[in-house]
Amino acid sequence: MAKFNSKKLKHIAVLTSGGDAPGMNAAIRAVVRVGIFNGLKVTAVYRGFHGLIDQEYEELKPGSVANTIQRGGTIIKTDRCKEFYTKSGRARAAKHFRTAGFDGLVVIGGDGTFTGAHLLWKEHGIPVVGVPGTIDNDVYGTDRTIGFDTAVNTAMDAIDKVRDTAASHDRLFIVEVMGRNSGHIALEVGLAAGAEEVFIPEHKVSIKHVIKVIERGIRRGKKSSILICAEGQTPGQSYTIAKEIKKASGYEAKVCILGHIQRGGSPTAYDRNLASRMGAAAVQFLLIGRTDVMVGEVNQNIVAVPLKDAFSKKKLVRKDWLNLEKTLSI
Ligand code: F6P
Repeated sequence: MAKFNSKKLKHIAVLTSGGDAPGMNAAIRAVVRVGIFNGLKVTAVYRGFHGLIDQEYEELKPGSVANTIQRGGTIIKTDRCKEFYTKSGRARAAKHFRTAGFDGLVVIGGDGTFTGAHLLWKEHGIPVVGVPGTIDNDVYGTDRTIGFDTAVNTAMDAIDKVRDTAASHDRLFIVEVMGRNSGHIALEVGLAAGAEEVFIPEHKVSIKHVIKVIERGIRRGKKSSILICAEGQTPGQSYTIAKEIKKASGYEAKVCILGHIQRGGSPTAYDRNLASRMGAAAVQFLLIGRTDVMVGEVNQNIVAVPLKDAFSKKKLVRKDWLNLEKTLSI
């Protein structure tokens, strides 16, 4: 694992990047307070890597993060920074980083964020530690990412409501949940909400199979059904699925797309606590000279995962959970 000389570590910066996730504020709060507790100065970089390029910073004190643990979103803003994908963009960011007097960086985000952070270390020797914050839970090396639990609960609450109207009208519904390239949200919410079937990018199902599932339900007296679809690469694809079901069977399916509602809201206790543990661990890693790593949590233990693994390896969905979801819907 990569190391740097942390003896002179005095001033760290923290940023959030990529899609926001409930619990990011709890992670920022932990970075700020654990940093200050250990004698460091902590500065927020606004709007992700944009803030480094545009030199948008603010020093944070313990009181700056008061009353934020319960808030969704990110108080230091986030963005996806195109300029940072370029070598010259990263060089500018690195130059500004040094001019500002920072000597370590904590980045909170997902795979795109970690790719950028890894390059900052590789190309410019900037000590970086990542904290996984994304509702998608698609980051390798950690059981859970910050925001996932809240997003699953938000989607589950919405699906419970959809179920009421579906049952009242004897209707078939397709509920589309978030998850770019990944079915973690769809699978866990499908299991929690008792859905009939889930469509996820990792394990595709045919329309023929779905119709069989619907008809099996009808034969045993089901009057309404809920199908969950992960948006994958094409948000709105539930409309296509509904059309295909109609064409192949004549069944009408109503579509409900939950969208960005899943990214907001007050984080669950699980996410606040995970974020607090991970934010604290990120500072501890920098203090002992660790760099180019992500904080992960596996079986409730904090682990250091090479950033490269975190963004390049695939975190698989649990096939046994998927099978259970299908069994429970008979
Ligand atoms: O990465 C989190 C996520 O919410 C994905 O689930 C979703 O596909 C994407 O971000 C949406 O991104 P945007 O912020 O560009 O709407």
